Amino acid sequence: MKFFIDTANLNEIKAAQALGVLDGVTTNPSLMAKEGITGKNNILKHYVDICNIVHGDVSAEVNAVDYDGMIREGEELVDLHPQIVVKLPMTKEGIMACKYFSDKEVKTNLTLVFSAGQALLAAKAGATYVSPFIGRLDDISTDGLALVEEIREIYDNYGYETEILAASVRHTMHIVNCAKIGADVITGPLSAILGLLKHPLTDIGLAQFIADFEKGNK
Ligand code: G3P
Repeated sequence: MKFFIDTANLNEIKAAQALGVLDGVTTNPSLMAKEGITGKNNILKHYVDICNIVHGDVSAEVNAVDYDGMIREGEELVDLHPQIVVKLPMTKEGIMACKYFSDKEVKTNLTLVFSAGQALLAAKAGATYVSPFIGRLDDISTDGLALVEEIREIYDNYGYETEILAASVRHTMHIVNCAKIGADVITGPLSAILGLLKHPLTDIGLAQFIADFEKGNK
């Protein structure tokens, strides 16, 4: 299972990279705005800065909603750095642009996916990644993990190679449950990844080991 971090915060990306378990980064226009990164040139430079920290795929989202605009922006993004993955919205134009880029062997991430039918279309268009937003489904009393399970079943039925990138992951148990049901990738905040470390028995056991070691070395 791949771990991506879902942020445009360079310090958090550096911290996840330093942990040694980071496989990539996802961003979106809201995450960029949250970091105060605005204006086309600043945003493009920020993508390059992210690519220079992490070794894996970095999803960079187009802002255009028309097909020609998506192609134009996507090509500009791809030219920035070999690690860039073109992130496209799950719309008719996004699917058409996905097909265009997958025919050119450019990696794509279909975002804002909320149904199995949308995920099926993304696979048909050759998407590298499909991003079901599990947290946002949970927010409206709909089981986000159940969507990941449905997509897993459909992709396995036909051997689609599109990777299921569980997005809008909010907490540690989302990660554990995604691993149980076979998501290929999760993307979430650093806090959710670090939460995997925590267990009180680990802390108690370690404190005891240290105390016993110190007693024996007095
Ligand atoms: O990867 C998608 C993500 O950025 C959305 O997360 O927490 O805003 O639903 P959230």
